Amino acid sequence: MPVAIKPSTIPLHFNWSRTNFAIGYHSSLQSVMTRMAHSGLGFSKSLYARLVTPRISEALLDTRVVLLVGPRQAGKTTLVKAFAHDRLPYFSLDDHTTQHFARADPTGFVRRLDRAIIDEVQRAPDLLLAIKQTVDADPRPGRFLLTGSANVFRLSSVVDSLAGRVETVRLLPLSQAEMHGQASTFLANVFAGRLPKRMLPLVLDDALVDVVLKGGFPEAVKRPKARRRVDWLMSYLGSLLQRDVHDLGQINRAVVLPRLAQILASMSGQLLNVTRVAQMLGVSRLTTQRYIDALENLFLVYTLPPFHSNALKRLIKSPKLHLLDSGLLAAVGNSTAEALRWDRTPLGRLLECFVLGELLKMSDSASGRYRLSHFRDKQQNEVDFVLEDSGGSVVGIEVKAAATVTGKDFRGLLRLRNGCGTRFKMGIVLYNHDRAYWYDRNIAAVPISSLWSAG
Ligand SMILES: Nc1ncnc2c1ncn2[C@@H]1O[C@H](COP(=O)(O)OP(=O)(O)O)[C@@H](O)[C@H]1O
Ligand SMILES: [Mg+2]
Repeated sequence: MPVAIKPSTIPLHFNWSRTNFAIGYHSSLQSVMTRMAHSGLGFSKSLYARLVTPRISEALLDTRVVLLVGPRQAGKTTLVKAFAHDRLPYFSLDDHTTQHFARADPTGFVRRLDRAIIDEVQRAPDLLLAIKQTVDADPRPGRFLLTGSANVFRLSSVVDSLAGRVETVRLLPLSQAEMHGQASTFLANVFAGRLPKRMLPLVLDDALVDVVLKGGFPEAVKRPKARRRVDWLMSYLGSLLQRDVHDLGQINRAVVLPRLAQILASMSGQLLNVTRVAQMLGVSRLTTQRYIDALENLFLVYTLPPFHSNALKRLIKSPKLHLLDSGLLAAVGNSTAEALRWDRTPLGRLLECFVLGELLKMSDSASGRYRLSHFRDKQQNEVDFVLEDSGGSVVGIEVKAAATVTGKDFRGLLRLRNGCGTRFKMGIVLYNHDRAYWYDRNIAAVPISSLWSAG
């Protein structure tokens, strides 16, 4: 259940005094959090604190437009409403009248606004041009806080023209750290070559399966009955494929999308072979690629690029495709706790999807920037995830659903270490066990729940 938001749960690399000074209209981040907890947003219970909040506050201090993107139902509206006040009014383009006005007269709509929060801006993409014009004329920072449930902006040329004026922040569904009410220290530790802390109580076996099956969507997480959760997730997927996909304006045969989602779920975590997907779907390769791009723009799937290095030879250059939420992947693939008790095979794929989500969420809320990729070479050496920081340091992460780890599980990490030389800070096998231990110089096995350890 959500925990009450205490000041101690707010990520602490955040500069309070600077916020007070420059935003002026918030007494502090704490007030935003408290407002999230107590605002009359239609629910009386408290909310989980979101770890990207400081990034939004900071960006509003020095950037004219801040764009919060992420899947529908991740919590964007709830988060941006906590920033709303008299001088930063809130408008939602999910509201028909507002949307109608914004589409009919984008310039007029924006001209009336000094500052504003505009929710679901992909519903009236022409607003972006009007916003660009007004922020060029009046370049004060923090003028617009926008949200989008579809990354139409990736396709839109307006965003190029907004370059330098907009900062994009991604909000994925809840992370484990958010559900536990504290920021993870995993990245800081592993990039310093230290064993990540263990998270107590350890999440193992059935408890781990439970966490993975739930995924991160708040509405799914809060449903105690698995059946009700799966119903919600399937109806979420249905409306995404039938309705939200049209916001992207590039889909003419939406009937194949449910089948495409099934196929991609069955291949989650594998190298993406678009030609094969196209054959299974019975449409051209080009169309298939366009549809996959659309599902990526709706944050249903994620293409993980291959690791690149001049020092490592014979690397495989295909990306891998993952679903972005392990709860959705489980629902689409009919993976239940009961079924996994008898057959653990699907757990590997679910766990990889889960770890991908956790790593992306962690890097979205971190103060540094990270690049995430996968490593595979032609000798079948592989590492599920490779993280690189902006200084070029490398950390490899391999995911194992089992409680035993053998030499074979470290092979890819050893290869990556050889190829990266001093850039390689640490290699980790995340596994389903309570013990953390060093296997070799800067290569270790640690419990999966170390990902959300704090302190
Ligand atoms: N921080 C949070 N803690 C708990 N539940 C949340 C939180 N943020 C959102 N929710 C719940 O998740 C659902 C979707 O939230 P919403 O803000 O409407 O998402 P979005 O705008 O991304 O579609 C709502 O039912 C909301 O109550
Ligand atoms: Mg919303």
